[in-house]
Amino acid sequence: MIAKIKQLLEEIDTLKASNTEELEALRIKYLSKKGAINDLMADFRNVAADQKKEVGMRLNDLKNKAQDKINALKEQFADQDNTACDLDLTRSAYPVKLGTRHPLTIVKNEIIDIFARLGFSIAEGPEIEDDWHVFSALNFPPEHPARDMQDTFFIEANPDVVLRTHTSSVQSRVMEVTQPPIRIICPGRVYRNEAISYRAHCFFHQVEALYIDKDVSFTDLKQVLLLFAKEMFGAETKIRLRPSYFPFTEPSAEMDISCNICGGKGCPFCKHTGWVEILGCGMVDPNVLELNGIDSKVYSGYALGMGIERITNLKYQVKDLRMFSENDMRFLKEFEAAY
Ligand code: DAH
Repeated sequence: MIAKIKQLLEEIDTLKASNTEELEALRIKYLSKKGAINDLMADFRNVAADQKKEVGMRLNDLKNKAQDKINALKEQFADQDNTACDLDLTRSAYPVKLGTRHPLTIVKNEIIDIFARLGFSIAEGPEIEDDWHVFSALNFPPEHPARDMQDTFFIEANPDVVLRTHTSSVQSRVMEVTQPPIRIICPGRVYRNEAISYRAHCFFHQVEALYIDKDVSFTDLKQVLLLFAKEMFGAETKIRLRPSYFPFTEPSAEMDISCNICGGKGCPFCKHTGWVEILGCGMVDPNVLELNGIDSKVYSGYALGMGIERITNLKYQVKDLRMFSENDMRFLKEFEAAY
């Protein structure tokens, strides 16, 4: 009997099954009611009394080992089964969903592109600025209303620190470290303390352009403005300049374009004037050149600044400014084809 047990132990130790059917056959062969181990159990009563203890222990051991072995083989198939249902290497991959560019990014890139073709390169500056670069270096007198808390976000603990209210601050950042010729375009986010509504937000985006060299005149500015308007809004676009005031330019102007919605005939969008305002511009005030270390007797320049939201509205008629910052996928997806 002991020899038989030993032989079965050896057999069980080397058991192999390549699928669940084979495994079940092994279980029946060794562990079922009519299996080899049960047969031995049935013979147990014939074992001599003095050997019962040892044979009994060996029989139990055999049964446990057989059960363990069958269980181990079963687990191996359980693993394989899972793998088979989770991973199908022949299946084609899901298409990767691409994001869409934000409409403001699309328009910003378009503006940059037009100016890049004219030789302007991109310059950037910090959004958290100091009073000097946002105001003082740009010739804002101390009592200028733009410095008012109503318009500007100041840091209470240090009123010298502000969130920039315009990208013109990058002008002085560049001028203080670069001598002309300077030909830069500065896109970026700006902040103003406005009540949020469909037509105003506490942050928005601007693009600033600055050109400083010898003999730069208002004619050069006009030429660039006309070219920009035609490139951005179509070859039939007309421009009109109205005198204006900015502390950092003299003379200053505001530029209107012929309404691109009604073609200048007059519509609710242009309030029936046929014109819509799109940017501010002018010749850099000699004071600004001097404040930033550039000799105003040798150099002159022009600057212009525009709101990207405004240009985007004109191109795409987005009626509510808040749409730009709400991250509503239905809105953003509308611009999928625009770039
Ligand atoms: N910084 C002005 C604003 O935020 C826009 C502007 C006007 C920029 C005239 C200029 C400029 O460079 O020449 O309203």
